[in-house]
Amino acid sequence: MEKERIKQQVLEAFHFRHATKLYDDTKKITDEDFQYILEAGRLSPSSLGSEPWKFLVVQDPSMRDKMMPYCPGAVEKLRTASHFVILLAHKGVRYDSDYLIGQMKDIQQMPDEVIETVTGHYKNFQELNQILDNERTLVDWSMKQTYIALGNMMTAAALIGIDSTPMEGFNAVALGQLLANEGLLGNDEFTPSVLVAFGYRKEDPARPKARRLLNDVVEWI
Ligand SMILES: Cc1cc2nc3c(=O)[nH]c(=O)nc-3n(C[C@H](O)[C@H](O)[C@H](O)COP(=O)(O)O)c2cc1C
Repeated sequence: MEKERIKQQVLEAFHFRHATKLYDDTKKITDEDFQYILEAGRLSPSSLGSEPWKFLVVQDPSMRDKMMPYCPGAVEKLRTASHFVILLAHKGVRYDSDYLIGQMKDIQQMPDEVIETVTGHYKNFQELNQILDNERTLVDWSMKQTYIALGNMMTAAALIGIDSTPMEGFNAVALGQLLANEGLLGNDEFTPSVLVAFGYRKEDPARPKARRLLNDVVEWI
């Protein structure tokens, strides 16, 4: 049955996917396949439809070299992965920010009177959840959204046999400074959130997948 086959394929992809430590640097992802991975990121859901992200694809070897000192958890991947992405989080996505209003107007095509109403709801939501407390809480909220795109990109990749590694092993301040100096953070609109490498594994994982049991992570009430 079609549904059973799809379920099996998806679960096989999750078993296949592991945090690849070393990539085969002779194998490159095709443009078409990488476009599909980016599309999975673009189509990801986000709170309020804010899409508070940008995917910076770092293919320039000299830029990868410059990143290495600030990304200790990513050095081997920067050296060997076919494609390397920095997921940037949008700063300051307040209910009344130009960015979020633009998102409602231009992307979601909301009429002005609807924007006025929902902005009030968004204000309440962001206040209630302490998202407006300070710059940090605001950017943390944007960063959460980038992890949804991250997960979808990695799953999309695994489904077509492409390996990936999510990475937080970097110095966010220093990497942010480097990217700012290179003019890659817009007008101070973005900050690095999480890194992800894509490519083909050099070797199979050293250990079998280790996960807690379903019964230990799920509680039905
Ligand atoms: C948000 C996040 C950050 C991570 N940071 C790093 C990292 O900086 N370097 C690295 O080699 N692995 C990193 N990992 C990989 C995890 O260690 C790995 O996913 C976990 O041990 C489970 O193993 P598996 O993905 O192979 O199943 C990270 C994973 C996640 C989800």
